[in-house]
Amino acid sequence: MLILNWKMNPKSLTEANKLIFAYEKQIQDLKIKPRSILIAPPSLFLPVLVQKHPDFIFGGQNCSDQDQGALTGEISASMLKSAGAGFVILGHSERKKMGESLALINRKIIAALKNKIKVVLCFGEIVKPKNFQTAPSEWRRQAKILFNQLDQFKNLGRDLIVAFEPAWAISVNRQGSVSIEYLNLFIRWFRAETEKKIKHLPLIYGGSVDAKVVKLFQSAEIKGFLIGSKSLEPSEFGKISRAYYN
Ligand code: 13P
Repeated sequence: MLILNWKMNPKSLTEANKLIFAYEKQIQDLKIKPRSILIAPPSLFLPVLVQKHPDFIFGGQNCSDQDQGALTGEISASMLKSAGAGFVILGHSERKKMGESLALINRKIIAALKNKIKVVLCFGEIVKPKNFQTAPSEWRRQAKILFNQLDQFKNLGRDLIVAFEPAWAISVNRQGSVSIEYLNLFIRWFRAETEKKIKHLPLIYGGSVDAKVVKLFQSAEIKGFLIGSKSLEPSEFGKISRAYYN
């Protein structure tokens, strides 16, 4: 699967529609199952995009941990659902930088799953570790809080996707980003650490994804990619799709 995180882009609904028409042109010759590309636009655009582009699945970039209340500016998981969202990205490092704690993200995951919205959970460290062998202790600390009380949900393997997306790997050049060895270290750690409690969660990778990264990570046991800036450039999206689906 390819998941496109548009962040706070584009500027208008008209441009959002244009972007999707440009995607359709790029992928018209590829054999892609409808609804296997997931797009997270700004949530204001959701109802219109969901109606106009039924071949894609749309989702939110965030939701509240509460279902209702006096919470100015917040959007609940059930509101996202009623706007047509099929999933929500939670725990993005850009939101952590705005002050979201791991405990709050855990509550958001629970709120989304209770409302039957699939979660794409961004997971990873903010600061690049000096020695990669020290990373698992940070991952373990995060997992303990993020996966707290998730055993109440059956079918987590269907409803929770984990995107390994260290903040330091976002929008950087290839040399400064995640290597295949580091990605494999994470995958091995994740499987060993979480498989006892939470089985078969799909893993995807995010962080400076372009067509080269898709090729480079072809051998890794991941189910797809979370794409940021390149998703706003239709020709780059086309190259990524060709690398992934061909
Ligand atoms: P880039 O692909 O621009 O590095 O962004 C990744 C991201 O933040 C997706 O959630």
